[in-house]
Amino acid sequence: MIKKVSLNTLQKIKDSGEKFSMLTAYDYSTAKYFDEAGIDVILVGDSLAMVALGYETTHSVGIEEMIIFTKAVARGVNRALVVTDMPFMSYHADLTTALNNAGDLIKNGANAVKVEGANEHILNVVKRCIECGIPVMGHLGFTPQFLNTIGGYNIQGKSYDATLQILEQAKQLEKAGAFSIVLEMVPEESAKYITENLRIPTISCGAGRYCTSQVLVCDDMLGKYSEFKPKFARRYGDMKTLISDCAKQYDYDVKNGNFPGEQEIFRLSEEELRQLMLHAEV
Ligand code: KIV
Repeated sequence: MIKKVSLNTLQKIKDSGEKFSMLTAYDYSTAKYFDEAGIDVILVGDSLAMVALGYETTHSVGIEEMIIFTKAVARGVNRALVVTDMPFMSYHADLTTALNNAGDLIKNGANAVKVEGANEHILNVVKRCIECGIPVMGHLGFTPQFLNTIGGYNIQGKSYDATLQILEQAKQLEKAGAFSIVLEMVPEESAKYITENLRIPTISCGAGRYCTSQVLVCDDMLGKYSEFKPKFARRYGDMKTLISDCAKQYDYDVKNGNFPGEQEIFRLSEEELRQLMLHAEV
């Protein structure tokens, strides 16, 4: 019997000074392979807007799409904790809408939700979710849903003051009940200081080596998304070349009669074939 990763598992990992792994996934088979490989947390990130749906930013994806991708991922996962991003404007307008949307993600297979930022409203969303039994992961530093107000893909927490500000937000999230916090594009020293001063685990997304965990967007990690590679991402494969080579070979085989071959066809029985031939002769 496989033991499902829980919030306690992740907290114990932080307490013992060890690390857990996290990757995004958006479809059934990728989630299944990641789960079987031992990835501890699978994030249905709203990065899917860009890497799976081809939008320019994460703003273009809504709760309905996040539910579809969550269902697919959840069906592939046995062990990992499945966390889904609350998409842009699905939790900002009012608490009731936020709670209903978070609840819909849980009903459709997420084990927890992730929200960006830590203003008063977001902290209230976190508190109400926890009161309703919905675990929440925070996300600080560079928060893509705030891209337009941040003014670009800029590193956050670059000064002593800015680091303390992020730490303060992180403490508020921890107090509100968040079980972990993603730190995105934050200098390593700042992320280390924040991690050391929090009880809950931190997850680095371009925040250096001293967080409790690391997360990468799967398309970056697999070398599939070719438009852009963040400096902090590492490519473990070259799926772009693999997919493109396979497609070129298939195109060639179809056009030259090499596909399908003997192994890939169905045949009539001899009797049916004989009858067909007789019919052709009439
Ligand atoms: O949307 C996403 O994939 C994320 C990770 C990069 C942390 O939020």
